[in-house]
Amino acid sequence: MILKKGTEFGIKYKSIFDWKGKYSKVANTGLAEQSEVYYKTEDKWYQAYLYSPKKGFIISSFMDITPRKKAELHYIMSEKWFRRLFMTTQDGIMARDLKGKMFDCNPAYAKMLGYTKKELKSRSVKLLLPEKWQKQRERIVKNVLQTGQSIVFEREYKRKDGSIFPASVRTWRLTDGKGKAIGIWSIVRDISEQKRHQRSLEEQAIALERIVDERTRQLRDSERLAAIGQTAAMVGHDLRNPLQTVIGELYLAKSEVNSLGEGGAKSNLEESIQVIEEQAIYMDKIVSDLQAFVRPIIIERKPVNIKQLINAVLSSFTISANVELDLQFGDVFPEIKADLQLLKRVLINLVTNAVQAMPGGGRLTLTSQVQSNGHVLVTVEDTGVGIPEKIKPQIFMPLFTTKSRGQGFGLAVCKRVIEAHGGSISFESEEGRGAKFTIELPPS
Ligand SMILES: Nc1ncnc2c1ncn2[C@@H]1O[C@H](COP(=O)(O)OP(=O)(O)OP(=O)(O)O)[C@@H](O)[C@H]1O
Ligand SMILES: [Mg+2]
Repeated sequence: MILKKGTEFGIKYKSIFDWKGKYSKVANTGLAEQSEVYYKTEDKWYQAYLYSPKKGFIISSFMDITPRKKAELHYIMSEKWFRRLFMTTQDGIMARDLKGKMFDCNPAYAKMLGYTKKELKSRSVKLLLPEKWQKQRERIVKNVLQTGQSIVFEREYKRKDGSIFPASVRTWRLTDGKGKAIGIWSIVRDISEQKRHQRSLEEQAIALERIVDERTRQLRDSERLAAIGQTAAMVGHDLRNPLQTVIGELYLAKSEVNSLGEGGAKSNLEESIQVIEEQAIYMDKIVSDLQAFVRPIIIERKPVNIKQLINAVLSSFTISANVELDLQFGDVFPEIKADLQLLKRVLINLVTNAVQAMPGGGRLTLTSQVQSNGHVLVTVEDTGVGIPEKIKPQIFMPLFTTKSRGQGFGLAVCKRVIEAHGGSISFESEEGRGAKFTIELPPS
């Protein structure tokens, strides 16, 4: 082989290798050389040995090392690939020894926990978990060392600033070249965002459920109202006349009784008549409310003097002695064009509620005044039980009542009538401290 041309061995010299320089160096110095050379055209690697048996002469031998080189390259490439993944992934990757001391982690892991990599190095992983997760950690470590890996599980971590975040974790056993366990490595994913999303989805589901419930209730109520409407129209019509007769007869009976001589029989009769009268008035209220609610409201406007209206309403009530009445009228005499019968209904309902709210007595205050814009304000205030916060949004709804004998039509009728007059009704109340209802009517 000595002094033969390389091409004669089937090797094409298409490499960046400076053969001429190498050969003359070895031939002249007598120092042997070896190098690995890549032949691009063949895609092959050779191990070349060059030595000089005698000054000016050279011996070269080539050994095909392509399989070894390819395996090495593959290893380097996969190592590089893994390193890149390790450095750039958003998931935290961490390795710790058998004692729980960390010996490596990627930037994402350190960032997630608010530490620098240096601070985390040889830190005990125990310190990164809130106390309540320590038992779970011990269980998983034991399991992973035995079985080789864990299932995906969730736990919380504690950042350097003390804040807590939820994470999903998976861990594997770490072994040395001989397969002996030397620690554990984990992939940790911050799932705060996912949890927030999940929570907001749950909240939306609850809100939707509430809307469906509310709509179902409204539907049920409107069906009920339609049925009540039909019945009320019939019953109201049929009861109206006999009721008026009862009230009229009672009036006559009262005057008859007055003419009787004083005595036990007279006072007994007076008492009975009063009870019957109260109950008849109550029946009249029920019928009137039902009718006012179900009938289309047709307003017949006539000049109404508010002061007279209030007095008329109060005179139709027997207000118990333990309720102190306080009437306050402004200097200007409020007079508006409105439907007298309907406004009477509104005031009767408000005063009834006020009186019912003060079973143990209290003060009932009625005021009326004209505002500078000509609007008339009428207020009905009591010092009774007040309206609990949680039922405030419902009190104007038809059928809403907290009373065992209530219909829940009173305020619904008030709202309907006042709004039909172009006005508004509002209230202020604190539980246990009374309630004040205000009606505002525009000048007509
Ligand atoms: N002045 C008030 N003080 C405390 N609670 C009140 C007052 N007025 C109304 N409410 C509350 O609002 C609910 C609805 O009142 P509304 O007048 O519509 O019906 P009701 O009085 O229960 O029955 P109805 O008037 O049909 O006999 C009452 O059941 C009560 O809980
Ligand atoms: Mg009422």
